[in-house]
Amino acid sequence: LPVPATTLTIFGATGDLAHRKLLPALYNLAHEGALPERFNLIGVSRREMPDDEFREVMRAAIEKYSRRETDPTVLEGLLGRVRYVGFDFADVESYAKLRAVIEALDEEGGGKLNRAFYLSTAPEFFPVIVKALREAELNYDPDVDVRCIIEKPFGTDLESALELQRVVEHVFREQQVYRIDHYLGKETVQNVMAFRFANFMFEPVWNRNYIENIQITAAEDIGIGTRAGYYDQAGALRDLVQNHMLQLLTLVCMEPPASFEADKVRDEKVKVLQSITPPTAEEVRQCTVRAQYLAGTEGGEDVGGYLEEEGVPDDSRTETYAALKLEVHNWRWAGVPIYLRTGKRLTRKVTEIAVQLKPVPHLAFQSHGSVGVKPNQLVLTMQPNEGVSLSLGAKIPGSSMRIRPVNMEFLYGSAFMSQSPEAYERLILDAMRGEATLFTRNDEVIAQWSIIDPILQAWAADDEPLHTYESGTGGPAAADELIAPHRWRGL
Ligand code: BG6
Repeated sequence: LPVPATTLTIFGATGDLAHRKLLPALYNLAHEGALPERFNLIGVSRREMPDDEFREVMRAAIEKYSRRETDPTVLEGLLGRVRYVGFDFADVESYAKLRAVIEALDEEGGGKLNRAFYLSTAPEFFPVIVKALREAELNYDPDVDVRCIIEKPFGTDLESALELQRVVEHVFREQQVYRIDHYLGKETVQNVMAFRFANFMFEPVWNRNYIENIQITAAEDIGIGTRAGYYDQAGALRDLVQNHMLQLLTLVCMEPPASFEADKVRDEKVKVLQSITPPTAEEVRQCTVRAQYLAGTEGGEDVGGYLEEEGVPDDSRTETYAALKLEVHNWRWAGVPIYLRTGKRLTRKVTEIAVQLKPVPHLAFQSHGSVGVKPNQLVLTMQPNEGVSLSLGAKIPGSSMRIRPVNMEFLYGSAFMSQSPEAYERLILDAMRGEATLFTRNDEVIAQWSIIDPILQAWAADDEPLHTYESGTGGPAAADELIAPHRWRGL
């Protein structure tokens, strides 16, 4: 799909996400020549500053975070297309100023450009901005496409997500809305669909008859850094499970879509989420574990616990680790436990999906002294060692029939020479193109919250002490009990 001429407005352009991800992603796109010939960026933020000062902010962000060496010609070319508007999100005057800049850019280029509004502010401003865009009549134009890109979090529970959705749908048609889950922009996450639907050999075993359990892990070694203000309100369940981990789950469990058209893919994903029955309070007690990190190590350095982090209240009960056992109640998956775990300050950073197959029905070699026969395990690694690995039983060379597991491996790094684009590069481009497959549809977000909401409520009502784990370890012991009789893959 070609990328149409667009003016992209980023609300929250001096924020952390813009600084680390969005502005560098735009530079990388410019470097590849992927931006349309007529492209403008308007940075919007609460601080007042002239265009040139914002350009310097942008330059610094790009030099620090771009995955490429900065090429001065590309950089200057991009900065030349940048404007800045100091903004009060609740003030109509600000939107009038923005409109004037957008229209001036249209005129400069000799015709109207598509408009994309990227909401990368603190989430409490999302409804404010969306409503104001309508009041300023910036939400629709008969001559061009107008799009709204919304960062996470889309709500903080089911009710607030529904409320935000009511505001959004009053202003934009669903086809105009692009809800970001940056995991969908990752090459390796998209590869889950390629792996499943471009290969014939896995589909026949991809069901309850052959699969014993599925383990989805999103472990991080880092702590919460300077994000206490946000994180202490959110916790691991909202921060990673509601969005990224449920996305991974749906991609592994969905039926093959009729085509890769956005709604066909999203229809299948929604069906998976709707097949997960929201847990009762009793099920939450049995099927979830939450924990908080204590002092320990990070990257070999001694570090304090969560409660010692700056900005975290002494009595915080926010979880930095969550493990869940879920089941997808349909013909393909009934009875297959799907385990999810995520946490900060674990042993290492790894995001993976491990599909554990059942043991062979009869092992003919056992009487011949075989060792270490293990059921096949397929591991799709999203990061950091991107690839797919399948464990197989193989004969150990020698005069007896002894077996041990070996790995058959595909690694992105050795199979493909080119560097993968960053998730945000793909997503920004897709949103400008009007390609919605990698964005979360309204009913999908609501279905995600419907699973998470009862867990949040049961946790809030529960006055049991939180589990804990030492920083730099594999998580709380309670998570091992949760998964028994199975075992987590080692971190
Ligand atoms: C974000 C969370 O959505 O995802 C962060 O808010 C987390 O807490 C991050 O660190 C992980 O993303 P990635 O791409 O580094 O796996």
